[in-house]
Amino acid sequence: MKILVINGPNINMVGIREPALYGKQDYQAMLEFIQASAKEAGVEVECFQHNHEGAIVDRIQQAYFEKIDGIVINPAAYTHTSVAILDALKAVSIPAVEVHLTDVSQREDFRHISYAGKACFKTFKGLGFEGYRQGILAIKELLEKR
Ligand code: DQA
Repeated sequence: MKILVINGPNINMVGIREPALYGKQDYQAMLEFIQASAKEAGVEVECFQHNHEGAIVDRIQQAYFEKIDGIVINPAAYTHTSVAILDALKAVSIPAVEVHLTDVSQREDFRHISYAGKACFKTFKGLGFEGYRQGILAIKELLEKR
């Protein structure tokens, strides 16, 4: 079982960006946490981060041809703007889970809409890194039921 974890713009800046919101642990610590979660779940995980919308669309499309089993995605700011990422997720029909480090529903109004979320079967928000672990486990559970 192979899961792709996609992080959008500025997620590589965690630990530096607004630590009161996103925490003090850096992106390397996030990668290590995700790999430890994958090991615990007994699944293979590849992480991808990009600041450009089109590169994220390309990576989602590539996942189809690589026969990736599941996607955990934090589209970051593109969550609230990107129909292209929503369409890419719909195009590949790979089961996807949406993750946000912060609880976007408790923040500014413009963060309340999620386009990508419309193509995801679950959302974890406000759990910090733990959301990625929950996302991996949710995909594993779904795939095992099939
Ligand atoms: C975020 C929330 C988004 O609104 C924001 O633009 C981000 C990160 C989160 O993980 O909480 O960059 O997706």
